[in-house]
Amino acid sequence: MTTPQPPRDTPFAPACDRNREPILEVLRAQFEHRRQVLEIGSGTGQHAVHFAAAMPWLRWQTSERPAHLSGIAAWLDEAALPNTPSPVALDVAQADWPVSTAADGRFDAAFTANTLHIMGWPDVEACFAGLHTALADSATCVVYGPFNVGGAYTSDSNRDFDGWLKARDPRSGIRDLEAVDALASGIGLRLQDDIAMPSNNRCLVWRR
Ligand SMILES: C[S@@+](CC[C@H](N)C(=O)[O-])C[C@H]1O[C@@H](n2cnc3c(N)ncnc32)[C@H](O)[C@@H]1O
Repeated sequence: MTTPQPPRDTPFAPACDRNREPILEVLRAQFEHRRQVLEIGSGTGQHAVHFAAAMPWLRWQTSERPAHLSGIAAWLDEAALPNTPSPVALDVAQADWPVSTAADGRFDAAFTANTLHIMGWPDVEACFAGLHTALADSATCVVYGPFNVGGAYTSDSNRDFDGWLKARDPRSGIRDLEAVDALASGIGLRLQDDIAMPSNNRCLVWRR
């Protein structure tokens, strides 16, 4: 499979090139019977074009805070895939989520990568509150990123990364898996899988 190359002068995240294949392996299985994915915090849009190209049965809806939308649109335009509608503005803290962009008003899947440790905790709470209305019954939600387990870092590199994050923005930081799972549980999502990923990351998979 050939993934579209970055359009000139558009944002590029080297990490996406490194983590996209291991994540795709998880998503292929978890989204096999899904139809409409809402991606939160799509970043550059690189993941979206890679995953939408590899899983053509999905309609992959990118979303981001407004400043990122033009970069995502450039990636989507270059790829010209039939299953990537235009990106929508979504700050998870906003009251009204763009659920009307789903064909039947709700998404049956959600995906987000490397966002929960960037958001402040109130935004992480807002993210799950928004998913409560954005997700259909029986939806699948996959979150990729670093997590602490049992109140502890899972690696020295994650401890260092957490220190770096907090020095940059004290509201950010690696989240406790159990605290995030409690938010998910509060909106009817049950943890199905906790998959170890390269570089001390995880894919958490919930189902409604
Ligand atoms: C480290 S980047 C990850 C981007 C992309 N998902 C990836 O894996 O390359 C974190 C992203 O989270 C987004 N983000 C942070 N706070 C957000 C919020 N309140 N609502 C929506 N997105 C947010 C940022 O705009 C940024 O693009």
